[in-house]
Amino acid sequence: MSGRIQSFLAVILASPFSGSGSGPAFASAHGGLANYTVGDVWYPGYDPNSPLGPLQLTQQQPGIPQRSYSSIDPIFSPTSPYLACNSPALSPPNTPQHYIPLTPGQNLSAIYYFWLHPVGPMSVYLSEPCPIPPNSTLGDCSSVNLEEVKWFKIWESGLLTGPNLAEGTWYQKSFQNWVGDGENRWTVRIPGRVREGRYLVRHEILSLHVAGGPQWYVGCGHLDVRRGTIREGEGEGEGEGELPPGEYWVKFPGAYREDDPDIFIDIYSEENANRTEYVVPGPRIWPGYVFLSNFSYSFLPLP
Ligand SMILES: *[C@@H]1O[C@H](CO)[C@@H](O)[C@H](O)[C@H]1NC(C)=O
Ligand SMILES: *[C@@H]1O[C@H](CO)[C@@H](O)[C@H](O)[C@H]1NC(C)=O
Ligand SMILES: *[C@@H]1O[C@H](CO)[C@@H](O)[C@H](O)[C@H]1NC(C)=O
Ligand SMILES: *[C@@H]1O[C@H](CO)[C@@H](O)[C@H](O)[C@H]1NC(C)=O
Ligand SMILES: *[C@@H]1O[C@H](CO)[C@@H](O)[C@H](O)[C@H]1NC(C)=O
Repeated sequence: MSGRIQSFLAVILASPFSGSGSGPAFASAHGGLANYTVGDVWYPGYDPNSPLGPLQLTQQQPGIPQRSYSSIDPIFSPTSPYLACNSPALSPPNTPQHYIPLTPGQNLSAIYYFWLHPVGPMSVYLSEPCPIPPNSTLGDCSSVNLEEVKWFKIWESGLLTGPNLAEGTWYQKSFQNWVGDGENRWTVRIPGRVREGRYLVRHEILSLHVAGGPQWYVGCGHLDVRRGTIREGEGEGEGEGELPPGEYWVKFPGAYREDDPDIFIDIYSEENANRTEYVVPGPRIWPGYVFLSNFSYSFLPLP
């Protein structure tokens, strides 16, 4: 096990991307989404450290549904143009053209390589359905303008327990010392009511271990959400599904404020020494479930 960690760190230290931050690569730390899974099916992610160039990598592994990213370094500013989907290694028309097939209500997991940071919230967003080009019946996410795309949040997790923000246990801590063996998965449910279509999915880890210096790690993939195509007979819906109402939508950049005290936070300060609550920044989650009664919800597709 430690051999795997060491060899992965060796890759990081040798990576041309690790020199762009200040200080040693280990201290500034890095991470990227490596693979997606749906049930037992694995979908390969993009690998910025691959010795194959980005274009060659994408051509040799044409099934990659993840958007390329040029570096595993974090993003430091909420106004970065790369806050949506990280800085791309490839631009259209070389953006991946592939999609992970899913039904509404089905779970998607993300798998990461070694992860170092324990503190800060994690969120998952879906885009608006990608536009359908003329002469096609399917959306095309590969050529969207990411700064114009609208997003809604489908999942979040922050501080779970703990004496305070610095020493408490965040969901992010469960990623620490992860060795990328597929055991630890970041699993979220695609809303059961969501409309059919092709979507971008955006995984965001916000690390808060540096006082006043937030670090965003984001990665995007392409999803093809359809009823009844994957689990035929298993409750596929007849309705068209829906999208969230207006107050749930945000853009990146735009969703986070530059003066948000919970983003530019010093978790080690005296002021925060007894704080046991942390509200995850961004919009509220759109649950997207089927409302059955005040005591019962269905996460499965529309009945
Ligand atoms: C759509 O199909 C028509 C008829 O085949 C063709 O003339 C037109 O160029 C196509 N448009 C696009 C955008 O592909
Ligand atoms: C991701 O999948 C590739 C195969 O496509 C595999 O080589 C790699 O080890 C996987 N990474 C993790 C962290 O599971
Ligand atoms: C689906 O994901 C949710 C978390 O969003 C989890 O609570 C649930 O157990 C998962 N279901 C399956 C079948 O893995
Ligand atoms: C935190 O709690 C301790 C112990 O109760 C107390 O001495 C201290 O004043 C508190 N600090 C703040 C900022 O409230
Ligand atoms: C749910 O609760 C609200 C407010 O208490 C009530 O007005 C409504 O009738 C309830 N709906 C159902 C389906 O029980």
